[in-house]
Amino acid sequence: MSSVRDFYDALAADYHLIFPDWDASMARQAAALDGVVRARLGAGPHKVLDCSCGIGTQAIGLAGIGHRVVGSDLSPVAAVRAAAEAAARGVGFPTAAADMRALPFRASVFDAVVCADNSLPHLLTADDLRTALAGMRRVLREDGLLLLSVRDYDAIRAARPSSTPPQVATTARGRVVTFQLWRWHEDGERYDLEHFQLVPDGNDWEVRVRRTAYWALPRGQLTDAVADAGFTDVSWHEPEGSGFYQPVLTARRT
Ligand SMILES: C[S@@+](CC[C@H](N)C(=O)[O-])C[C@H]1O[C@@H](n2cnc3c(N)ncnc32)[C@H](O)[C@@H]1O
Repeated sequence: MSSVRDFYDALAADYHLIFPDWDASMARQAAALDGVVRARLGAGPHKVLDCSCGIGTQAIGLAGIGHRVVGSDLSPVAAVRAAAEAAARGVGFPTAAADMRALPFRASVFDAVVCADNSLPHLLTADDLRTALAGMRRVLREDGLLLLSVRDYDAIRAARPSSTPPQVATTARGRVVTFQLWRWHEDGERYDLEHFQLVPDGNDWEVRVRRTAYWALPRGQLTDAVADAGFTDVSWHEPEGSGFYQPVLTARRT
C-alpha cells in the first residue's frame, strides 16, 4: 500500500482525466460551494483556505469567482500543479505542500476553510481526524465557516460496493477510462482502493494503477467529531439543495 502522498503525487498529472470536462466541473463545483459560503458569510469576497486543494478543482473556481484563495495539499506535486493551473487561467493564488494535520498558517486568518471531495476520509484514525479538525478550527477567524464534502458513506456502508462506475474523458490520445476497485477491511469501516486509468495506446491500452485507502465515515460520526472539535451549528447540505455533487457539512467556529 503506497502512502496517500505517493498516491496523489503519482496521480497529479492525470487527475483532471477523472472528469469528462475539468473546467466545466471546476465552474460547477465552485458555484455550488460559493452559494453555501455566501448564504452563511454574506457576499464577500472571502479569504478561503482549501486545505486539500489537490490540482485545484474547487480552489481555482472559487478564485475565479473573486474569493481570496490559498491552497494547500499533502501532495507537493498536486499543489504545484494547482498554482500553475490557476495562473494559466489568470486567477493565480499561493499554494503550499502541507498536511491538514499540521497547517502552516497563523491562527484566525481565514473566513472559510474548505476540505472537499472526500479528502478528510483519507485520515484513517479518530486521532488524526481530531488533529485535523482542531487545526482547521485554529486557522478560522471567530465565526468563520468550515466546509467539508464527503461521499455519502451511510448509503455506501449499507451497500458495500466493490467498484465505482467508469468515467470517460476524451483526450487527444482518445478516450481515457477511470474507475476504482474497493476491498473492504474486516472492520466494515475502511477500504483499500485501486484506482485504474486506462489510457489508449494505439490499438492497445496502457493501464495505470494507483493504491490508497479510505475510512468510510458515517455522517453521525463526522458530525460528532466536528462538534467535539469545538465547532457549532453543524449542518448537512444535500446535493439537491446545494448543487454540489456530494453531501456538504458546514459548521461555525464560535
Ligand atoms: C480526492 S482528492 C481531492 C482533491 C481536490 N479537492 C479536488 O477535488 O480536486 C483528495 C486530496 O486530499 C489530499 N489529502 C489527503 N490527505 C491529506 C492530508 N493529510 N493533508 C492534506 N491533504 C490531504 C490529497 O493529496 C488529495 O489532493
